[in-house]
Amino acid sequence: MPDSSDLILKRKSEHLDLCLTDSVSFKNKSNGFEHYEFKHHATTQVDISKIDFTTEFFNKKISYPFLISCMTGGIEKADNINLKLAESAASLNIPLGLGSLRYALENNEHDSRLKEIRINAKSIPILANLGIAQIIQQKKISSLQRVIDLLEADVMVIHLNPLQELMQENGEPNFPSLLKSIKNIVKKINLPVIVKEVGAGISKNVAKELLDIGVKGIDVAGAGGTSWAGVEILRSKSTQSEMFWDWGLPTSYCIRKVASLKKKYDFILVGSGGIDTPFDLAKSLALGADMCGSARTILKTLNSNGDEGVATLIKHWFEIVKKIMFLTGSHSLDELNRRKLVRSKELF
Ligand SMILES: Cc1cc2nc3c(=O)[nH]c(=O)nc-3n(C[C@H](O)[C@H](O)[C@H](O)COP(=O)(O)O)c2cc1C
Repeated sequence: MPDSSDLILKRKSEHLDLCLTDSVSFKNKSNGFEHYEFKHHATTQVDISKIDFTTEFFNKKISYPFLISCMTGGIEKADNINLKLAESAASLNIPLGLGSLRYALENNEHDSRLKEIRINAKSIPILANLGIAQIIQQKKISSLQRVIDLLEADVMVIHLNPLQELMQENGEPNFPSLLKSIKNIVKKINLPVIVKEVGAGISKNVAKELLDIGVKGIDVAGAGGTSWAGVEILRSKSTQSEMFWDWGLPTSYCIRKVASLKKKYDFILVGSGGIDTPFDLAKSLALGADMCGSARTILKTLNSNGDEGVATLIKHWFEIVKKIMFLTGSHSLDELNRRKLVRSKELF
């Protein structure tokens, strides 16, 4: 009988394989960006060569408002993925999200791999990551602090995944004292905390609950990209839960609603969940995201074109964003964020 850590590692391997090979996208739901169009600005005076994307991410300067969303770790192929993504992120000077570090809390056999990731990542921001189930179970934070120190992590990311846990065989869909546990981590860890979903989205009310307890970033990780219900349904080889495949709030809706909290709260809003094209990226930023992230598209690009391919893709996306800024008369991302979108239905 394999022990629980073997099961976790087997699950990670299956997740990677499914995300690379099977179709785990939403079936009849999109990220919603197709309902918006940019307002063409015929009198644009923008000088494309002067557009600069440099921004700050929790006190570190980064070159693009983009992060590699948290994915995997703990098994050899996953560690190799993170080492390569660290190189892509370092070459672009953007933050790197790591997948759940649960495996590294339980023993120290992964410590040297974590140190290698920091070496490859040079000085870019690294996002440590744990699921809410583990956050609730953490009685002492010493093992989490040890992992944070090894990585010299800059930000702690907590992922909420009630749908995934519910769909997963041996999942743990039970989150007593969820907010209290997050509040405790916010207080005890000397790092800013971002809370994210994994593809079902964060609503305005949920974001408000989290910001009220001191969370400094919301990554909406909305519906329209990878369906984690879909991944677990495929793993379970049962069609019993098929009707949940498309569950979740579309990314564009989440960004628009959560962005309205900016009037009252100071936080970083990350737009993610199905950011698969430069137009998804530009529309996220125009709807109010401070930055964007992408997971499975980056993983697939790494798999087909290597770490340089990932860097090339992200640079290319931002070249297209520059063209969109030119055509909408936006000198800066702040300007792109000011009424540069129109709902498609208004056009006809
Ligand atoms: C292979 C893989 C593993 C993932 N593992 C994690 C994880 O450990 N922690 C986490 O917060 N999100 C994890 N995610 C979810 C992503 O960060 C992201 O929120 C989700 O896939 C939606 O983004 P996408 O549509 O760009 O893929 C994983 C995604 C992929 C593709």
